[in-house]
Amino acid sequence: MLPEKYKALSDQQAAVRIAKAKEKLGEKVMILGHHYQRDEVIEFADRIGDSLYLSKEAAKSSAEYIVFCGVYFMAETADIVTGDDQVVILPDISAGCPMADMAPIDEVKNAWKDLESLGLTENLIPVTYVNSSAEVKAFCGEHDGYVCTSANAEGILKYIIGEGKRIFFFPDRYLSTNTARKLGVKEIALWEREKVSGGLSEDEIRDAKILAWNGYCPVHARFSCKDIDDLRARYPEIKIIVHPEVPEQVAQKADLMGSTSFIVKQIEDSPNGSVWGIGTEIHLVGRLAKQHPDKKIFLIGTPICMCSMMDRISPQYLLWVLESLVEGKVVNQVKVPEKVKGAALKALNRMYGLS
Ligand code: 13P
Ligand code: SF4
Repeated sequence: MLPEKYKALSDQQAAVRIAKAKEKLGEKVMILGHHYQRDEVIEFADRIGDSLYLSKEAAKSSAEYIVFCGVYFMAETADIVTGDDQVVILPDISAGCPMADMAPIDEVKNAWKDLESLGLTENLIPVTYVNSSAEVKAFCGEHDGYVCTSANAEGILKYIIGEGKRIFFFPDRYLSTNTARKLGVKEIALWEREKVSGGLSEDEIRDAKILAWNGYCPVHARFSCKDIDDLRARYPEIKIIVHPEVPEQVAQKADLMGSTSFIVKQIEDSPNGSVWGIGTEIHLVGRLAKQHPDKKIFLIGTPICMCSMMDRISPQYLLWVLESLVEGKVVNQVKVPEKVKGAALKALNRMYGLS
């Protein structure tokens, strides 16, 4: 819990002290900021990016402390890829990801056992979106599987299917189905986690090239086709760009689809005067609109498309963890148990090998 003395600070007061604490800590600390973070936090990030880029930056860093301004699974991933002598900190330890929580490790293991008892795991490769717990990543590592992010899902799925294998994909149904559609893969079966054997018959499981666990992002699930139609009616020249976590029908109406960094790059590279409708989290869309006043940038839909978990990282929380480090205290460390780490790293390294 944030100590009372930090709660009373304004963002501006916190900013002045964050700058001082950062200066005192110097090279000992590296601050990573995901694109969905608030501007008042992003301004202090040493690196800003999508989940793939930030995990690579964590792995490259020699800083003693990595302060991850993002959500829990991102900090866990950073802990897995950094050395034992490095400490990863999540300013608000309660900043989780509801989608990652939709694939609890026990459910994943039970589903796999279910498939094993039916003799249906031969040639089946577990792949988990990075938005998952370290335990689910470790499960994939132990079963010749992979991690992927929204930036490399296409390449990883293509590679596995090209090897003649089938995929059990956790937890995001839309990342898997939107990517499969892009690859022209039609044999997809939705694994309904609430039902025995995912609610599927043996034949349906056997015929599926991709078994898609039915998790989803509550933020991206809010985007609708009607919102895109309305924007297109108002701005016929508009280009629609979405994150692959949006529902399939929404993705099908978009001109472009990709990770947060892909979205940033497309907007940066577009000509002055271009018009964009963006289907992703509101903090990023708002920042892009501010950074590109020469372009018309709209959030598809309404301002409810905010990730309240990402938003938990405030300047006050960032200040608390930094000033604690200055005093020689570590607060809000994210530490993955050793035996989970090793197996999870296997799945992550298979991903890095392909991206
Ligand atoms: P990126 O990997 O595109 O940064 O997305 C992470 C995420 O949580 C999107 O909701
Ligand atoms: Fe998780 Fe969605 Fe938030 Fe991304 S936007 S961190 S998937 S809840």
